[in-house]
Amino acid sequence: MNLSDTALSIPVIEIDGLSKQVRLADGQGDLHILQDVSFAVGAGESVAIVGASGSGKSTLLGLLAGLDVPTQGAVRLQGTDLFGLDEDARAARRGESIGFVFQSFQLLPALTALENVMLPLELAGVDDARAVATQWLERVGLGSRLRHYPKHLSGGEQQRVALARAFAGEPAILFADEPTGIGGQPRPRRPRGGRAPCPLVDAR
Ligand SMILES: Nc1ncnc2c1ncn2[C@@H]1O[C@H](COP(=O)(O)OP(=O)(O)OP(=O)(O)O)[C@@H](O)[C@H]1O
Ligand SMILES: [Mg+2]
Repeated sequence: MNLSDTALSIPVIEIDGLSKQVRLADGQGDLHILQDVSFAVGAGESVAIVGASGSGKSTLLGLLAGLDVPTQGAVRLQGTDLFGLDEDARAARRGESIGFVFQSFQLLPALTALENVMLPLELAGVDDARAVATQWLERVGLGSRLRHYPKHLSGGEQQRVALARAFAGEPAILFADEPTGIGGQPRPRRPRGGRAPCPLVDAR
């Protein structure tokens, strides 16, 4: 086996015995949101997490992206133990290889659609952040809404800004929480010559 075979054989996402419990207020005991979850996702795979409302889908995605910490278990992204890293290193790792579309979009209200997509690109040191962000907003059909603030966009349009922001950094892994929650939006097309992310989506 040569080096590239080894790289290909490492799952992009591997989770092992992941559990999350939280202590409820007023002595109501512990809530076990996730218990002993294990699975692996290979390069190029698309996986949907399906479950009833409140079953723990968003909690699981948050753990996989290192936005939350588990009570037990490990998450390895491209072979790296996410919770073996300190918070700063985990945030850096997220910036390098993860795109996240939040269930509530999490757009910054004081920034326009264009600025929301540009911001992470600028933080990552992308030279032509404005041009890249504009292209992605055009790809999701929002070329005529670049200067709109989130409160002046429809729910579906806000979600498309969030999708453009997640895709613009061409992440290796894309987490999308309820990406089909609001219907009717065009799906972003892969950029010419760009890598396809490995999407992990939460869909009811
Ligand atoms: N920090 C917390 N403290 C207490 N309960 C929590 C906490 N975080 C999540 N929960 C509870 O855990 C359960 C799972 O929440 P989660 O948001 O992961 O569900 P979900 O499957 O994404 O639901 P939906 O489909 O409605 O988005 C919910 O019942 C929620 O109330
Ligand atoms: Mg959810």
